[in-house]
Amino acid sequence: MGKLIAANWKEHPKTEEEARALFRAVARIKRPRGAEVLVCPPFIYLEGIAAQYGIMETDRRRGLALGAQDVFWAEEGAFTGEIGPKMLRSLGARYVIVGHSERRRFEGETDAAINKKIALALRDGLNVILCVGEGPAVRRKGAAAAKAFVRGQLAKDLRKISLEKKVVIIAYEPIWAIGTGRNDRPEDAREMARFVKSWLVAHKRIARPKFLYGGSVNGANAADYVQLKEVDGALVGGASLKAEEFGRIVNAVKK
Ligand code: PGA
Repeated sequence: MGKLIAANWKEHPKTEEEARALFRAVARIKRPRGAEVLVCPPFIYLEGIAAQYGIMETDRRRGLALGAQDVFWAEEGAFTGEIGPKMLRSLGARYVIVGHSERRRFEGETDAAINKKIALALRDGLNVILCVGEGPAVRRKGAAAAKAFVRGQLAKDLRKISLEKKVVIIAYEPIWAIGTGRNDRPEDAREMARFVKSWLVAHKRIARPKFLYGGSVNGANAADYVQLKEVDGALVGGASLKAEEFGRIVNAVKK
């Protein structure tokens, strides 16, 4: 993996027609060498997009992949409304986002549930993007408090999970930076990247841990993050819904 530019469409757009049009525009973005693009649309659009573009979960070469925004912790069963990892893979998803702060907040998702989701998703062959990040009250206490908070999330969310031959990418998304236009200072994101990576090496024995920054990334500021050697890409919300803007982010990988 070079730099991963991941689009989190969240609950957008409202119709499948719009979703296909947006994906079509994203697929047309010329990707610089070393940039991989991941699109995470709402579950229901995965199948149509994968079919139209012939995207398969096994397809690792073309630099354009599909992922889901969540997954459940059981493969199948009496769990109304839930979607399991094998279902996602069968639709062409190669990645899944787990533990996004909006799910923690609006769906009451706990670290224990996130831990189970990651364990099953990895077992079933999905690459996981685990979202962590502190809220404004913690950040006001300073960098040490933010690191302690993130360390706590990592420890709980990855508890008893062996990461040998598995892909877990950590997306650091400070809650106060998501959708606010107040992106983190690149030097602070870099410091968090170093901290998270050294934690992963020490506690999970990952030789080459991966770290994404997320939170108000746009075409104008993306290069400040994705060109850092400690940062392996970006997780993009709002700006991923405008193909042109997203294209600028993808191209920020190029030095
Ligand atoms: P944002 O969202 O880019 O709109 O701030 C990022 C995210 O929540 O993944």
